[in-house]
Amino acid sequence: MAYFQWGNDMAIDNGPIDQDHQLLVEQVNTLHTATAEGRGHEVVGSLLEDIIRDTLSHIRHEEQQMEALGYPRLAEHKKGHERFVADLQQLRQRYHAGAITVAAQLSWLLRDWLSIHIRRLDKELARFILKKQRQGHAKALALAHHH
Ligand SMILES: [Fe+2]
Ligand SMILES: [Fe+2]
Repeated sequence: MAYFQWGNDMAIDNGPIDQDHQLLVEQVNTLHTATAEGRGHEVVGSLLEDIIRDTLSHIRHEEQQMEALGYPRLAEHKKGHERFVADLQQLRQRYHAGAITVAAQLSWLLRDWLSIHIRRLDKELARFILKKQRQGHAKALALAHHH
């Protein structure tokens, strides 16, 4: 049984953003399974590298999309991304310094990220995308009436 289940309420764009978030859910579950089998410390080093790499690319795409849409809360959202990356990098440093609690700390950090950042802040972006789509649709209808 997976530790963290993807929920439909987490859907943002039914596309690339969701795929990235789903990948992160898989990584959380990989970490959890490894920890349950006593291999948490063994896998956390390379998992952290993967998560940092995937997260940097994910937030770049998410921010590009927000810029393209003229998302009004971009600056605030970016701060959340920066804090998460800084937390991940700090865990990487602690891992290389020999800390043995990194797997547990990464697990907490990711759980917060999924439930607080994705379920609240990214979800706001989803609502904004929907609003934009409706406006675009209304505009297209108005134009059609005009002709
Ligand atoms: Fe995201
Ligand atoms: Fe985000």
